[in-house]
Amino acid sequence: MRDDFKEDFALTEDVAYLDAANIGLVSEPVIETATEIFADIARGGTRELNEQREAMVYDNLREESAALFGCAPDDVAVFSSTTEALNVIAWSLDLGNGTIISTDVEFPSVTYPWIRIARTQDLDVVLVESENWIVPEETLLSRITADTAVVVLSHVEYLTGQRFDLQRIIEHAHEMGAIVVVDGIQAAGYLPLDLQEMGVDVYITGSYKWLLAPFGAAVAYIDEDLRTDLEPAFVGWRSVEEMWNLDATTLTYAPAARKFEYSTSAYDVKLAMAESIKYLRTIGIENIYDHNRELVTMLRQEVRNIEGTEIITPGTEGSRLTFSVDDMEGAEIERRLQNLSRPIEVSIRSGLIRVSPHIYNTEADIQYAIEQFKEILEGR
Ligand SMILES: Cc1ncc(COP(=O)(O)O)c(C=O)c1O
Repeated sequence: MRDDFKEDFALTEDVAYLDAANIGLVSEPVIETATEIFADIARGGTRELNEQREAMVYDNLREESAALFGCAPDDVAVFSSTTEALNVIAWSLDLGNGTIISTDVEFPSVTYPWIRIARTQDLDVVLVESENWIVPEETLLSRITADTAVVVLSHVEYLTGQRFDLQRIIEHAHEMGAIVVVDGIQAAGYLPLDLQEMGVDVYITGSYKWLLAPFGAAVAYIDEDLRTDLEPAFVGWRSVEEMWNLDATTLTYAPAARKFEYSTSAYDVKLAMAESIKYLRTIGIENIYDHNRELVTMLRQEVRNIEGTEIITPGTEGSRLTFSVDDMEGAEIERRLQNLSRPIEVSIRSGLIRVSPHIYNTEADIQYAIEQFKEILEGR
């Protein structure tokens, strides 16, 4: 693996950017791809976007996503955001009056669609309680029973980085007759994935965090056994096998996950996401995992010695470290970090500090962040 990506990422000299769990930086080659097609279509309309090129945009993203996920392109549907994909899936499932199981530490988009559906359909949403931000996996497993319709979880929790043993949860859920929907936006891009081996029913991820692409694209793996008999909640000209037939009188779905797609969208971003997945796969997701993990381990070893801090992130997480700090407001820490002559960018969420490095970070960035954390926190 190359050890210096700085030339591909414009900001990294001036800022110690440690915030991929919020927004990942986009590499220059990917920015060029997005800008080129954006300008082509904006300036040239149909002279630049013929039917073939328009179809190719989503085909490309499905193919790259399939390679990332370890599945076939037909298993992948393209959307514009993770939240959109989560809603499409939630509204397309036949939930009966089963229970939905999730946790109380999810990002809101993971739980809200089901909470909304439960307002007008006869079902319960049970959020398994966390302890000091971490969900006990045994408790979660014990709540998945024969009454469960869907288990919906993040692969890696956005705030703490808790990573669930999905294979175990999926096996148990399937034994109970439930399906498992996973939000992977905080995992895909640094965590090696093999979705078919995992046996997941739905796995969704978005463009702008660990996959280092701009806002406006997401993909969902939708397992063939699940999708075959499902009616998509939303349909449009892209839901069918031959979208250019434009036959408005009959609705015959594409025999693939793309039957859940329905409209045009920001094609530049879709192409950029495909390009960025290719870029990351060329580096190697396992290499990225090792690189990020080394940086986080280095940080963990130092932060745990700073008085009045508590590390929340479990040791299994490879690409972020979240910790609490006594006697200092998160906003004040953020202000101090941003006012440095070389600012440090991290996220403050619910009073916790979340540091999330990616390929463009080096040991020197982490060393610098450690020095600055010590300076700020030890002077409290
Ligand atoms: C776990 C998780 N899901 C969903 C989202 C939002 O995704 P989108 O903006 O693509 O809807 C986030 C953003 O932070 C997230 O962390």
